[in-house]
Amino acid sequence: MADFVRVAGVTDVPDPGSMLVEVEGEMIALFHVGGQFSALDDVCTHDGGPLASGELTGTKIACPRHGARFDIRTGAALSMPAIRGTRSHDVKIDAGGVWIRLRSGHGIDGPVTQPIGYPGSPHVETPESESLTLPSVPATGATDGAAPVEATALTTAASDTAPLCEDRVRELLKTVKDPELFVNIVDLGLIYGVTLAPSAEVSGKQQVSIDMTMTSPACPAGPQLIGDTKRALAAHPAVAGVEVRIVMDPPWTPDRMTDDARDFLGIF
Ligand code: FES
Repeated sequence: MADFVRVAGVTDVPDPGSMLVEVEGEMIALFHVGGQFSALDDVCTHDGGPLASGELTGTKIACPRHGARFDIRTGAALSMPAIRGTRSHDVKIDAGGVWIRLRSGHGIDGPVTQPIGYPGSPHVETPESESLTLPSVPATGATDGAAPVEATALTTAASDTAPLCEDRVRELLKTVKDPELFVNIVDLGLIYGVTLAPSAEVSGKQQVSIDMTMTSPACPAGPQLIGDTKRALAAHPAVAGVEVRIVMDPPWTPDRMTDDARDFLGIF
């Protein structure tokens, strides 16, 4: 087991306040609230945001990048877009100093915390009936007996008799859900643009171009979202082809989400 390392004097950290410290080569966010000290990895499990520079409210720290909140006492993820807790560490006060001992184990690779609003979540803050206002199509690969997203989307699009227009495309895209956030890509604000043009190759059909962003540049769900998007649109009888362009500028921020999505994810 690692030893305690002195990282600061007790009076060095305002109350409430936070400080970034280094322990054995790792960057640690040290918090001081109500006379109590606590320490977390300075790593947001959504995409590595620096927690020590986030907004501290009581015992919650909000990641400065996309707003995920964590409990500073335990590292538990409290709101989207983080779904996993970050690692917490042992802290003691001795000889006027604050000492930290690194814990091994849970961190970015730690246990998954069910997201707010997701059935079964210990952090449910939104009544389940409200969450049902969002499409309930399961993510690709779901094994709970429900049809995977592409099958549902194909069925919907293949029997589509509505004329193809931007609004209809956006409706079809609502069948595509982020597999980690459980919210469709339209309500998440990932769709920056929809362009329809007569196909040069298939008479009477349309070529669809989608400008899509990701919640982070390294979003692991990216390939799946692109594939699901193409499948959801390609099955429509008026679609000749689908192009998905990934656009990272401007970067995605939580304020691009609809109010329903924000409520569902517990982002205020
Ligand atoms: S990096 Fe922290 S919420 Fe995205």
